[in-house]
Amino acid sequence: MKDLAYSTIDSYHQAKQLARKNPEPFWAEIAKNFQWHKPWDKVLEYDFHAPEVKWFLGGKLNITENCLDRHLKTQPDQTAIIFEPNDPSEAAEHITYKELHSRVCRAANMLKANGAKKGDRICIYMPMTPELAIAVLACARIGAIHSVVFAGFSATALAARINDAACTMLLTADGSYRGPKITPLKAIADEALTQCPTIKNCIVFKRTGQEVEWNSIDLWWHEELEKVSDSCPAEIMDSEDPLFILYTSGSTGKPKGMVHSCGGYMVYTAYSFQNVFQYQKGDVYWCTADIGWITGHSYIVYGPLAVGATTVMFEGVPSYPDYGRFWEVCAKHKVNQFYTAPTAIRALEKHPTSLVEKHDLSSLKVLGSVGEPINAEAWHWYDKHVGKHNCPIADTWWQTETGGILISSLAGVTPQKPTYATLPMPGIQAVLLDNDGNELEGEAEGILAIKHPWPSIARTIWGDHERYKKVYFSAYPGYYFPGDGALRDADGNYRITGRVDDVVIVSGHNLGTAPIENALNEHTNVVESAVVGFPHDIKGNALHAFVIPNKSVDDAEKLTNELRDLVAKTIGPIAKPDRIQVVSGLPKTRSGKIMRRILRKLAAGEYDNLGDISTLLNPEVVEEIKQNS
Ligand code: WTA
Repeated sequence: MKDLAYSTIDSYHQAKQLARKNPEPFWAEIAKNFQWHKPWDKVLEYDFHAPEVKWFLGGKLNITENCLDRHLKTQPDQTAIIFEPNDPSEAAEHITYKELHSRVCRAANMLKANGAKKGDRICIYMPMTPELAIAVLACARIGAIHSVVFAGFSATALAARINDAACTMLLTADGSYRGPKITPLKAIADEALTQCPTIKNCIVFKRTGQEVEWNSIDLWWHEELEKVSDSCPAEIMDSEDPLFILYTSGSTGKPKGMVHSCGGYMVYTAYSFQNVFQYQKGDVYWCTADIGWITGHSYIVYGPLAVGATTVMFEGVPSYPDYGRFWEVCAKHKVNQFYTAPTAIRALEKHPTSLVEKHDLSSLKVLGSVGEPINAEAWHWYDKHVGKHNCPIADTWWQTETGGILISSLAGVTPQKPTYATLPMPGIQAVLLDNDGNELEGEAEGILAIKHPWPSIARTIWGDHERYKKVYFSAYPGYYFPGDGALRDADGNYRITGRVDDVVIVSGHNLGTAPIENALNEHTNVVESAVVGFPHDIKGNALHAFVIPNKSVDDAEKLTNELRDLVAKTIGPIAKPDRIQVVSGLPKTRSGKIMRRILRKLAAGEYDNLGDISTLLNPEVVEEIKQNS
């Protein structure tokens, strides 16, 4: 896949220019690196007003042939997946491309034998074992649309997602190991399925061996596999056929089922993987995300496998058996590219550096970051203690909706700048807009938007194209609007400043909550904070700040005054929060994002109207906040 990658700054600049002047031939050249049953008739058709986007029209393919079959000719014995179990005393598993191909085909036949066919929606609620990747690829093999639900979600959340897409089959496991905990996945699934009339079969993978209840629709994964062969021709898909649905939270409570399609998603995930991480044949690449999130879809499964990489799948958590586990695994498998989230880095940073230093990290060449802005302190800790000042850090900005990384440095090829995602990838036309939708030039701060489609943009929200239009294409007509703010330096580097949909209008002034939080976090006794708006008689809206202190607070009034002064000093008196509440934690999603929707309700005193809080990592803090306000 050499032709996908720009490994010098000159080739990068050339690519960028070509992509800007002539996007269609640019993407067509890249798409030629893949195996198509029939080439496309037309590269692109789009209208951001409709909105409608189609790539590689008329092209026929199956993504699993690109991720598996074609590597059988060139590197059948290359390791495709290294599985590192939760328990370090359990042996790691090395799965070659040949073996993975065989296991995916057998699983695909298992799905077919149980009635699954092209276009059916199959829900996957499984732990991070190789069978999860196999389940995803088996669906793709037969053209069924997978909808992976993170195995930390509750029964209510699972049922809502199954019902939204009217899934006909559920793939799950008896239980899952995560750190010292065992989660009874099958029992949770059973509870969900009492509300899911469309599910006809539930296939259960045995992981923990725990007792499970058995219903008439249940089948054991291992028993079903024995009944079928490992020969399964790939279903031929249209480039624009849906490949999967993945739910992401919106600013209202109901999750959005983002739909990605076969051709464009394949091309863009492989292209971005290769370029951002500068993967070289034989390298070992590890992304610590869960396949339940987009990062796991694009950069554990599809992107790496499409280029024939060796990808690590880790079942556990960074804190088990101790806070050195990530580094132990890097040393054990001689990881070359390591991709994780700032929230993990911040958690690890609080523990003694001896936990990093005692492991040999000399194999590392490239580090990556994803999911939220990486603050300067975390960036420098990562650079110093993990990268030993010797590994470029790719801060990758993207979303579930974008399918792949849109803004990032290319490791070791383009310059990095701490806390900046840096430059848009070749082929990505990013702009900054002012509130009226005018494009800003040069150094500026504004609303991030994308001007031209890229192959892996989500095509719709499952069952709700109107919402897709409203959320992403209506605020700034003619642009894709991701909902993030950014600033741009004189060299064109982007720094993501946070969500712009969290802007609060106080006395007629637009105030972003993100910069206020940054100001509060500067205080030596503040670990983390979240600021939301609440209705105010005179100002329209006022600000409520939730702050987590470092150490216990003896004099709350003194702290509050200091914080108000700090905000006034950093941003201006108008940004001073009316209320500052000291809390021990903030309600967070399982991927570590603060649930501002819930904080807004709490700040407004709407305790009876909090919506579903069962998907939170820490629902207990909601009660604490209510009690103390
Ligand atoms: C945020 C995760 C700053 C951003 C791949 C985006 C980031 C949302 C970065 C999407 C980054 C992601 N710097 N912010 N490098 N990466 N974000 O859908 O607000 O879980 O809109 O996709 O995360 O989150 P999602």
